[in-house]
Amino acid sequence: MEGTTGQSPGINLNLNVRGMSQSATLAINERCAQLHREGREVFRLGLGQSPFPVAEPVVEKLRSNAYQKDYLPVKGLGQLREAVAAYHRRQEGIEYSAENVLIGPGSKELMFLIQLVYYGDLVIPTPSWVSYAPQATIIGRHIRWVPTQIDGWRITPDELESLCRSDPTRPRILILNYPNNPSGTTYGQEELEALAEVARRYRVILLSDEIYGEIHFGGKHQSIARYYPEGTIISAGLSKWCGAGGWRLGTFTFPGNLRWLLDAVAAVASETYTSTSAPIQYAAVRAYEGGLEIERYLQYSRRILGTLACELTTILRKTGVDLPAPEGGFYLFPSFEAFREPLERRGINDSVSFCESLLEDTGVAILPGSEFGRPPGELTARLAFVDFDGARALINAEGTPLDHPLPEEFLRENCNRVLTAVERIRDWLQNSS
Ligand SMILES: Cc1ncc(COP(=O)(O)O)c(C=O)c1O
Repeated sequence: MEGTTGQSPGINLNLNVRGMSQSATLAINERCAQLHREGREVFRLGLGQSPFPVAEPVVEKLRSNAYQKDYLPVKGLGQLREAVAAYHRRQEGIEYSAENVLIGPGSKELMFLIQLVYYGDLVIPTPSWVSYAPQATIIGRHIRWVPTQIDGWRITPDELESLCRSDPTRPRILILNYPNNPSGTTYGQEELEALAEVARRYRVILLSDEIYGEIHFGGKHQSIARYYPEGTIISAGLSKWCGAGGWRLGTFTFPGNLRWLLDAVAAVASETYTSTSAPIQYAAVRAYEGGLEIERYLQYSRRILGTLACELTTILRKTGVDLPAPEGGFYLFPSFEAFREPLERRGINDSVSFCESLLEDTGVAILPGSEFGRPPGELTARLAFVDFDGARALINAEGTPLDHPLPEEFLRENCNRVLTAVERIRDWLQNSS
């Protein structure tokens, strides 16, 4: 039966949504689950989820607030908005107040709403996180991809300048994500200053996606808002640094002169999700208050991720794989172009066939570079090094001296699945040569 309307499936879909499929990260996870059910050993380096448990003081706060049942204000719980403002004041030295902050059910939802309410082009570097472009497509916004180079996959002020110069008054939102998903790289102070200067010249709204800011390996993340406060919206949340992706809590911090944009997003939010989960917001206040326990949790998380990232980079580089040095988060974005010839002989000539063959042959799941806006024929992929027991790793890292790198045995004992997965990639590449 074709349905009671007598129409073919899909015919009444909005044109912008027709032909769209589920996000690639979720699709690869389902494929992994299927292989697992078939009894295959699977290494899940596809989905980018924090390996760590939610910080304990935050969990405690959630427990004691489970009874909170009322709808909260659409812009967020006042106490939480103040805690987030105070956090950014501490971090960046910018005079934010609760009025600057908008709380939402994940930063992804807030990103969608801001693209919906602001009429302008979306400017993103290639590679970029998987959801920015599809959100723009759903809404019908024009997407301008900015090319980058493998030395860091970073957008340069010159590239931004030449894009803006072609039509100087056109409204635009530039999303800058650092530390970056998918590359793990970030921007230094001079790069941020230079980008800020171009953005200011062309009045570009900067959506600064700093969701991985707290897991900069050196704990030295700084926001571009310092250099372009009047045009920067800081996007952050609990998902990555606090291990709470499933809790769904995101934050946008607006400058005072973009309050009209905050109000417009809140107006649409009030007609869609109403407000963010009440118990989660009360618990999030604890996360943003910080303090010693949270700081230690962060220090150990950073050390584990930083040591692991460094070791994986070494293994891959020794194999002949090209990738920039990772600086934060839990991703690597290598290029396998050095293996193009032998891979092509095996019928592998784009990033999708590369990832499919790798998964079938080795059980290692990673995501094709094309999902991040790279040319389909390019042999790049994203590797999320999160397939390990973060709770156990945190317990075992406890008490190790913070001024020394974690020893090699630590990684073997606690992150062995990730090491094994990357060694499998190495062997698979070497066998193909
Ligand atoms: C770069 C980046 N931005 C934003 C998000 C969305 O995070 P959330 O909606 O959980 O706040 C993610 C999640 O994967 C991400 O990797």
